[in-house]
Amino acid sequence: MPRACSAVSRRAALFGGAALALSLAGCGSRPEPRSARLSEFRAGEGPIRLPAREAPLLLQGSAPTSGWIYGDAPFPVFRIGQGQNLAVDLENRLKEHTSIHWHGVRVANAMDGVPYVTQMPVEPGETFSYRFAPPDTGTYFFHPHCNTTEQLGRGLSGIVVVEGDEEEPFDDDIVCLIKDWRLAKDGSFLPFLTVEGAGRAGSFGTLRTVNGVPAPEINVAAAADVRLRLINGDSSRVGEIGLMGAEASIIAIDGNPIVPFPLESWRLGPAMRLDLALRTPDEGGRAQIVDFFAAEPVVLATLVAEGAPKRRGAFEPRALKSQMLPEPDLSRARMHQLKLSESAAATDYSALPPIVLPDGRKIDVLDSLCSTSRTLWAIDGRTWPQTGHEHLPPPLMELKRGETALIELQNTTPHVHPMHLHGHSFKVLGTSKLKRPVHWADTVLVMPDERVQIAFVADNPGNWMIHCHIIEHQDTGMMGWFRVA
Ligand code: C2O
Ligand code: CU
Repeated sequence: MPRACSAVSRRAALFGGAALALSLAGCGSRPEPRSARLSEFRAGEGPIRLPAREAPLLLQGSAPTSGWIYGDAPFPVFRIGQGQNLAVDLENRLKEHTSIHWHGVRVANAMDGVPYVTQMPVEPGETFSYRFAPPDTGTYFFHPHCNTTEQLGRGLSGIVVVEGDEEEPFDDDIVCLIKDWRLAKDGSFLPFLTVEGAGRAGSFGTLRTVNGVPAPEINVAAAADVRLRLINGDSSRVGEIGLMGAEASIIAIDGNPIVPFPLESWRLGPAMRLDLALRTPDEGGRAQIVDFFAAEPVVLATLVAEGAPKRRGAFEPRALKSQMLPEPDLSRARMHQLKLSESAAATDYSALPPIVLPDGRKIDVLDSLCSTSRTLWAIDGRTWPQTGHEHLPPPLMELKRGETALIELQNTTPHVHPMHLHGHSFKVLGTSKLKRPVHWADTVLVMPDERVQIAFVADNPGNWMIHCHIIEHQDTGMMGWFRVA
């Protein structure tokens, strides 16, 4: 289990010897050297004690950065079997409240980790027990849900891998979390939210990393079939992710298996995941994970092939076992249009009654960590959370349990918005600009002036968030919620 000062050998033991030492400055004040592989933990047995804590990180040069992380190294990976119980006791050792949202996992509402909507914030010194059995296989992300620009920006996030979708195991399985850090020269953080950034594409980081390491080299077996799990863990940057020097196919999107198709490049917005199957080069060869978004492609990480070839013959990516998601019934679907727009003014909710939590508690205080003084964006002409969670605005949609919701997301702004919906996976049906196959997802990019149709069966009761995952957009108005009852 991640413990603040546990030894590497103990971590390794927990994950069959495969875990490598990590990128963190653990117990003392001196950061340890980092490996580009994340620490992995076998979950599904006893509860995992997961502290959220401050830790000095060596990201840029020799000046430590004051990061916030889960456990003893950034971005812990929990591996668990489908349907097994994941038990995580979040222990808040930070100086402000926090919570964990299990992004993409179809959890029960009370486990969804949204302060004032599904639970009370976890105050400093408190522990909150998350208990759920992930119903679907795949690659998921977890992170806090208030003051997210800062908490996520400082490194507070992790990965859940739900196993059981492979007919035959891959030769290796590598988790790569792509994240930029907004650092000044001395290693301290630049402001996490800027008005210029929030009003445009977000405030980009200054240092690009994979697994907390700038342009790492990751050793892999030569001529091996490898599963690469890519997570865009950044708060703002949309990547155009490709691979150079190896053949690769897309096998899952946001954890959901898809019939494999060759990767050219894939536009990956914040919180979106992409699983690839690839054949590594022959011994000594290198394959690069690249972001083609800018004019000059940026190498994010390099796979270095070593040792005797694992496989001969042509590369043939095998399909993953398909997921049992409820199929939307479009013939009886109600259409909801949600317009994403710029907004000069905040919607006034002050006349609304205070929030009543699922457990009956009433909230009527303004919480600065869960509110914002700026409003720049709106969904359907309405903004949130300028008044914090003191007054829950009316829902954007009220869905009957079991009904198919068909939603058209209409982007009327000149910026891209990765839109995310809690509690459900949806089918991306039609898009008017960016070419994508029909696929299941929990986050979808809506390009400038694009209309994207998604559908899902509203089978998970509760109050669920829907928001842009460019966190500065979310925090300045592009957030709402819907009810399934
Ligand atoms: Cu990953 Cu509501 O977010
Ligand atoms: Cu946005």
